[in-house]
Amino acid sequence: MDSTQQLGARYRVEGATAAQQEAVDVLARQFLLSDERLGEIIKEFRRRMEAGLASDGTMLKMVPSYVVWRPTGEETGAYFAIDLGGTNLRVMRVTLEGNGRATLLHQKFALPEEAKTRTLFDFIAQCVETFLDDHNMRPAATDPHLSFGFTFSYPIDQTSINSGTLIHWTKGLDVPGCVGRDVVRLLEDALLRLGLRVKVAAVVSDTVSTLLSAAYSDPAAQIGVIFGTGTNAAYYEDVTSLAKWKGADPASGEMVVSMEWGAFDSHELATLPFTPHDIKLDRKSLNPREQAYEKMISGMYLGEIARNIVLWLADQRLLLDGRSSTILNAMWALDTSYLSSAAVDDSPDLSAIRQVIEKTLNVPDSTLVDRRIFKIVAILVGERAARLSAVGLVATLTKRAEMLNRPITVAIDGSMYEHYPGFDRIMAETASHFIPESQFKNIRFSLARDGSGIGAGVIAMLATQHQ
Ligand code: BGC
Repeated sequence: MDSTQQLGARYRVEGATAAQQEAVDVLARQFLLSDERLGEIIKEFRRRMEAGLASDGTMLKMVPSYVVWRPTGEETGAYFAIDLGGTNLRVMRVTLEGNGRATLLHQKFALPEEAKTRTLFDFIAQCVETFLDDHNMRPAATDPHLSFGFTFSYPIDQTSINSGTLIHWTKGLDVPGCVGRDVVRLLEDALLRLGLRVKVAAVVSDTVSTLLSAAYSDPAAQIGVIFGTGTNAAYYEDVTSLAKWKGADPASGEMVVSMEWGAFDSHELATLPFTPHDIKLDRKSLNPREQAYEKMISGMYLGEIARNIVLWLADQRLLLDGRSSTILNAMWALDTSYLSSAAVDDSPDLSAIRQVIEKTLNVPDSTLVDRRIFKIVAILVGERAARLSAVGLVATLTKRAEMLNRPITVAIDGSMYEHYPGFDRIMAETASHFIPESQFKNIRFSLARDGSGIGAGVIAMLATQHQ
């Protein structure tokens, strides 16, 4: 696309000066991606998937999860789970009731800064203790250990169903001394220090647990995806395609693979559509050149990309008359949730956006044109994320194309999918351009709220059953 006309009326800013319009056009050209461009990225994505299935040490880790079972939905019993996400920790008891139904008793804890940078595993152990004590479930010295499923949403090299070494931190966590160590050992040691009779029966990615929670009620579930603070997907792979797998072949002939797709294009930065605003974010992030795909599509980063754009415009005096504020100048000041509210602000004076600019970011006296430009920025960043999300999805769906000839469910959880306006629609519609209609109609995208918690319980149950 090379002219404003081609960009369409959507990006024309009523009342803007020529220079402001020109800047918005530059942004639209950077952020809008043609299907052709997406097609090229999908091809490269598929190539990287194959490489990751074939050997270790590749860009996409394609981690064998050791989960080789599917639940029937008829299993019953109470299982415990710990769900460590990017922002919160949840401890819970999952009661499987049969008939695909499960109920949750859970407690949520915000991760304090200290836990994110130092005391993570002790913090988790304390939360487990609080949960057990608050609900009168703490095992006595003579009781058997309680078995927990542990959803750990960071990349690990899995070495068994209940062990795995941390590859690196993502999503803003930075606890020293953990990379290369078994995260289950780290947790069990912390639990032991508190004298808790608790064992970890399984450690799984949140994508794997999301998939298994869906599979408990839906036999068509094949893929679990997170579009949240971070992003990743897991799917049932035919074990004969997992060439790097050295263990015994499972009786089921399949294993769930956690792709760690957030790392797509990491280090190389050669395929994704980097703009100067993405590069700036990457350079200043805790993990430069890593999680390249994640940085373009997940909730942790989109607000920051938008903040970079806002400052780029302000610095040229094309926005907010060149004014800024201490808040606006600080990294991460613009939470991605503000983009969600800006993108759907249809009030005549864009009052939700005024609120964000003037109250949250503390830059007074925005004009209506400023707010119109801000809205376009929110839409460009969010919609690019939704379109790029379809890339990983299409690559995964078409990996086992035979699965598309019958009903297939993709279980999806995460704040971007749930809350960014139109994210689900744009993602699905983009995916539909790359999959034949006769197959696309078999695909169901389903929101798996709480999936990572319930799924950890389901996997704890399966792991205990197959011990
Ligand atoms: C992590 C994955 C996780 C994803 C979604 C990424 O940052 O590397 O392990 O599944 O976030 O939470």
